[in-house]
Amino acid sequence: MNKSNYKHSGTIFVGNLAVGKALFLKLENAFLLAGDGEIIEIVSTNEKIEFELASWCNLKGHKLLEKIHLKNQLSYKVRNHKSAFPKTANFGFTMKGIDTNNPKSGDWNFHGKDSILTKAPDHHGLMPRDCIIEEGSVDYNFAINHKEEIWAEPVSRLYEEAKHGQWDATDDILWNEIPEYDPEFERAICQIMTYLIENEFSALYIPGKFISQMNPYYMEIPLFLSSLMNDEARHIEAFTKRANANGGGIQYSSTVTQRSLYSLFAEKDYIKSSFLLHVMGEGTFIDLLKFLENYMPDASTKRILNYVRRDESRHVAYGMAHVSSALAQNPKRINSLKETAFKRKEFMDEINGESTMLLESLSILAGGGTSIEHYKRGYEAVEDLKKTMNRNRIKRLMDIGMDEDLAIDISKSHTPNFM
Ligand SMILES: [Fe+2]
Ligand SMILES: [Fe+2]
Repeated sequence: MNKSNYKHSGTIFVGNLAVGKALFLKLENAFLLAGDGEIIEIVSTNEKIEFELASWCNLKGHKLLEKIHLKNQLSYKVRNHKSAFPKTANFGFTMKGIDTNNPKSGDWNFHGKDSILTKAPDHHGLMPRDCIIEEGSVDYNFAINHKEEIWAEPVSRLYEEAKHGQWDATDDILWNEIPEYDPEFERAICQIMTYLIENEFSALYIPGKFISQMNPYYMEIPLFLSSLMNDEARHIEAFTKRANANGGGIQYSSTVTQRSLYSLFAEKDYIKSSFLLHVMGEGTFIDLLKFLENYMPDASTKRILNYVRRDESRHVAYGMAHVSSALAQNPKRINSLKETAFKRKEFMDEINGESTMLLESLSILAGGGTSIEHYKRGYEAVEDLKKTMNRNRIKRLMDIGMDEDLAIDISKSHTPNFM
């Protein structure tokens, strides 16, 4: 091939650098960034580098094509040679990509969303997307390497919302304004708080389990999930502080709740886990939080519940986008989601019943007191809540792409623990 057929990739000016490490470091990096077969011009004022440059080229497999005398300096043209090079980038000597779009927009993915590959490049380790990966880099063997397993399109927006939506469980809640309640009523609130905290722990630990399996090429997802985990940590903090605010403290943990959370925690597939946790679990949790906020008598506790619900809505939005996009890529996945929901039901059916402590506490709260009359009224409200949860679950399942009959079946199979 005639040398004029090769792409001229750029010129590096090495001035009067003498033969030595500083010169070769500069050359090494320039050739690393250039594509295979590209021609690089090296301009030097030092006449003594020719011999060493030719040896270096031989050693590295590059070809010194020609030497031209310019005024007071020398130009060497070298053809780059590399056996294997990552396919992700070829940017010569310019800063990559930033001239084609606007890097000041604050968008991380200014190459456009369609530029994100469907599979992470080989050897993509703990590094940002668009890295030029040195040949021979280590392989982390991440388990989640495909866009369709992980991606949720509005994730950058949700991440921005997460940053703006941060609140402080110490300063933003008027802890001193929580009134003293009848001890039995307060105990019911503390039981509810205990149950909420247990569920929040599952929402904290489950994404944590998957983040380390995700290829950082899809960096927005682990970053969003870490914001979600920060939310869950704050929820645990707020509910714990509320349980302790009037001295009632943490209460009872039921087997139903723990068994339900364990079946979420044990799921190994990320799409199934996202479906169970964010769509089914947190979706239902939102209805519960709304219910609690409606019936909670004091403004401070209401505010906690309101803030938590706002965060949870973001988590559900992520899960809905993730699972519906995974289903759109492969509609047959519906079967595996169905299977996972029914398998969970079987696991839950091995023990009978509901979380009785929780249901009684919810009834006391919704009834507004501890007498039998209050309890009866509250119990009815809880029964209505279950119907509302079921209706909204069916709607969410249909929104992610299920037909109505299947949505009804899956919703019915949902855990009596709500999450
Ligand atoms: Fe939460
Ligand atoms: Fe959440």
